[in-house]
Amino acid sequence: MKADRFLTGSDREWISRTTEQIFAKMEWVSEKNRDKIPYTTLEDGSWDDRSDQTPWGEDWGMGRSWWTNGFWGGLMWQLYHATGQERYREIAGISEEKLDDCFLQYYGLHHDVGFMWMPTSVADYRLTGNADSKRRALLAAQLLAGRFNPAGRFIRAWNEIPDADATGWAIIDCMFNISLLYWASEETGDPRYREIAQAHADTVMNSFIRPDGSSCHIVEFDPFTGRRVCSHAGQGYSHGGAWTRGQAWAIYGFAISWRHTGKQSYLDTAQKVADFFVGHMPESGIIPVDFCQPEVPALEDSCGAAAAASGLIELAECLMKNGDEQDQASAEKYMQAALCILHAIADTRACWDRSCDAIVLNCTAAYHSDDRHITMVYADYFFVEAMLKLADKGFFMW
Ligand code: GLY
Repeated sequence: MKADRFLTGSDREWISRTTEQIFAKMEWVSEKNRDKIPYTTLEDGSWDDRSDQTPWGEDWGMGRSWWTNGFWGGLMWQLYHATGQERYREIAGISEEKLDDCFLQYYGLHHDVGFMWMPTSVADYRLTGNADSKRRALLAAQLLAGRFNPAGRFIRAWNEIPDADATGWAIIDCMFNISLLYWASEETGDPRYREIAQAHADTVMNSFIRPDGSSCHIVEFDPFTGRRVCSHAGQGYSHGGAWTRGQAWAIYGFAISWRHTGKQSYLDTAQKVADFFVGHMPESGIIPVDFCQPEVPALEDSCGAAAAASGLIELAECLMKNGDEQDQASAEKYMQAALCILHAIADTRACWDRSCDAIVLNCTAAYHSDDRHITMVYADYFFVEAMLKLADKGFFMW
C-alpha cells in the first residue's frame, strides 16, 4: 500500500497488536457461529442467525434476504486472505450457499444485491475461481442492472415499502452496490453493466452531493420523466441533515468508481465528501449518527465510523496512485482521520473478550429507530477490512 508511508513506528506497532487481537477473537467467534448468517448480537452476546429464516415474508426482507447477509461471508474471506486458514474459506462457503434461496424468492432482493453477493460470491470467485460463485454473481448483476431507470439514469433502491411510493427512489448506499456491475463488465467484457454503473454514479454526483460536500441519503425522481423531485432524510436526523454512514457510502463509493473507471470527477467527489466528513468529525474520533443531530442524546454510529475509516484509507490510496503533491497532502490528512477513528473504535468501542461475539459496539441503524448502540456484522466487517488494509493484508473486495 502506497499510503502506508504516512504510518509512524508507533502506528505500525498498534496496527500489528490490534490485528493480532482480531485474529485471536475471530478464531473462536467463527467456529462458534460457523453455520449462521448473523446481523446483530442477542442478549447473551451470541450472534443471531438470519439463515434459518425465510427469504421473504411479513418481515419485509428482514430474514434470509436481509441486505447485510453478505458481510459474514466477506469477513471470512478477508480472514482467509490474511491468514490462509482453511476454516474461513469453509465458513464463507456455508453462508454463500444459504443465500441461493433468495434468488428464487426474488421479492426480498433489491439494489443491495451488491452488498450481498460482492463479499460472498465475487470474493469466492476472485480468491478460488469457484465457477458456481461466478454464476451467482452474474445472476445478481443481472438483477441489479434490471433496476436501472433510463429516464432518470438511476438504479431504483427498494421495492414496495410501507407508506410510500418508492418507484423513483435512489439512495446513496447504492454507490457500493454498483461495484457488482463494474465487476460484471470486467469479467464478461460486456460494457452494458459498466455503462449503467457510471450513469448511476453521474446522477448521484449531480443530484445527491450538496455544495458543502455533504450527501443526501434518499433522492426521489419522477420515474417517468427522470426529473429530480425532492430528497428525504432517510436514516439521518432530519431533512437536510448529514447521516454519517451515508457520507461513508459516498466517500468510499466514489473512490471505488474512480478505481474502476479512472474518471477524475469521481475522485474529486470522493474528496469533496471526505473533506466535509473530516471537517465535521470530533477530535475524539467517535462518530455521531448524523453530523447535524442535537448534542443530546449523544447517539453514535461505530458502523458508519468503520466504513468511513476504510473509505478514507481507500481514498488516500487512490490519491497516492493518482499523484501530485496536493493529492499527497490530502492523502495524509485522510490517513490521519482514519487512524483517529479506528483508534476510537479499537480502544474505546470494541469488545475483545468472550462476553460478546461482535467486536464493534455502539452502532445505530438509523437516528429515528430503536436499534441504537447495538452491534452489527457490517461494522465488524468494515473495521476488520480497514485494519487489514493498514496491516497490508487486505483483500480489495469492491
Ligand atoms: N444500507 C443501509 C444502511 O447503511 O443501514
